Parts: sequence; C-alpha cells; structure tokens
Amino acid sequence: MEHLIELRDIYKIYPMGDEIVHALDGVSLSIDRGEFVAIVGSSGSGKSTAMNIIGCLDVPTSGSYHLGGVDVSTMDDDQQAEIRNKMLGFIFQQYNLIPKLDILENVELPLLYAGVAAEERRRRAIQALERVGLAEKRKHLPSQLSGGQQQRVSIARALAGDPSVILADEPTGALDSRTGREVLGFLKKLNREGDTVVLITHDNSIAVQADRIIRLQDGKIIYDGDARDPRAVVRPGEELPEAGEEGKT
Ligand SMILES: Nc1ncnc2c1ncn2[C@@H]1O[C@H](COP(=O)(O)OP(=O)(O)OP(=O)(O)O)[C@@H](O)[C@H]1O
Ligand SMILES: [Mg+2]
Repeated sequence: MEHLIELRDIYKIYPMGDEIVHALDGVSLSIDRGEFVAIVGSSGSGKSTAMNIIGCLDVPTSGSYHLGGVDVSTMDDDQQAEIRNKMLGFIFQQYNLIPKLDILENVELPLLYAGVAAEERRRRAIQALERVGLAEKRKHLPSQLSGGQQQRVSIARALAGDPSVILADEPTGALDSRTGREVLGFLKKLNREGDTVVLITHDNSIAVQADRIIRLQDGKIIYDGDARDPRAVVRPGEELPEAGEEGKT
C-alpha cells in the first residue's frame, strides 16, 4: 500500500561560508494514515528542517518526497501553497492567533484564504471548535482565553481545513507542564478519532506519548520505532540499559 508520507534519501544542505551544513543527511522514512509519530532530537538535529520539508514549506536539496502519492519535492511555491491548504494542518509553539479577531473568525481565516464559501466556513469552524471543546467561547477574543485554550483554538484552526496530516512543532513549548499534557491529550484524542499526527519536540517526556518515535541526530535518523522501546529515549552518549539487568542486585 502507498504511504501517506514517504521521504527517500532526503538531503538538505546549507552553504555556511567555506563549509556546508548537512541539516538533513540522507533521511528516509514513511508514515501511514492514522499514525501518531513524534520526531525528536536535540537542538540542531534537523527537526525543523524535516518539519519544513514534510509541511511543504521548503524543498530538499536532493531526494524525493511523496505526500499522498504525489511527488511534492520539486514543486514551486504556488504548487506547495496549494498542497499545504489541501493536505496539511499546522500547530506551532506560538499560537499565532489574530488578537482583533474572535475565536470563530480566527478558525475561519485559513478557510477564507482557501476560498471556502462563508456558510461552509462557519459550519466547519464551529465543528472544529466543538472537537476541541471550545464552541461556547467562539465570540471571545484570544486575550480572553488561557494559554492552553488558545493552543486548542490553534488546533481547531488546523482541523478546520480537514487536513490529511496534522503537523505540530513544539506545540507545548510555551505552556506549563500540566497545560502541555492537556494539549497533548487533545492531539491523542484526534489521533484516536482517525487523524494522522506528526509531533516535533526536543522533550522525551512529550515524545513517549506518541506511538512511534523517530529520533534525529546530526541530520540522520538514529532510531525509528515503538515509542515504548527503551532505546527510543536514550540520549547520545548514554548507556543502553542491559536487558534483564533490573532486579539482579
Ligand atoms: N537557513 C539555514 N542556513 C544555514 N544553516 C541552517 C539553516 N537552517 C538550519 N540550519 C542548520 O541546520 C541544522 C538543523 O537545524 P534545525 O533548525 O532543523 O534544527 P532543530 O532540530 O529544529 O533545532 P531546535 O531544537 O534548536 O529548533 C543546524 O545545524 C542549523 O544550524
Ligand atoms: Mg527547530
């Protein structure tokens, strides 16, 4: 079966004076519909670069990227924008809500840009706000909501376009740990309801809540598998726990 996301031997190379930086250094991965995947790694490991390529915000230096079976790695800006509108929902650390617009208008905005008619816009925005439990707050301004609620509005905004993939880059980065867990709980719920979620984080305690972890280091994948496997959260330089060592002493 065809994968929803398929990266083959992706390189992203930046010239830096006399040197070159391999932000992504031969990355291959595939993600299927309905998965909940965390892409993790320390600062500079290539997470945002990967997110930008998966999110059609940037193109690789070389390698191929198929999204929903379509080769998007060589598209120009306009074609990429169209794919983003059709297939991707973004959640960022900063909620990027527009202060002067109420919650409903904020959620409707990308649909307006996508040329969706007014009535349909409203219907989809309300439905998305219902999914995150904030339909009653639709007339509030962003400043009248808590940080966690604002992030849920930004999740609703991502959902309103009915994306094939939800891409969340450090979505809990600006929140305290309890609110962060709540927002993560929402992403989990969406995934249980069938959405495909790709979460980018440097935080292991966040990453382990996904089903699968892809770990980057220096632009390379050093782990790709079950989030519950102990190897999924071993940091560079740390020792692997020996199987069966516990309880011996
Ligand atoms: N526009 C650019 N020009 C030159 N080098 C870049 C550029 N963007 C990223 N890099 C380099 O590529 C590497 C990967 O960067 P990237 O932003 O993907 O890391 P990251 O994992 O998202 O880090 P962080 O957790 O700090 O956000 C880094 O070494 C970075 O300095
Ligand atoms: Mg980053």
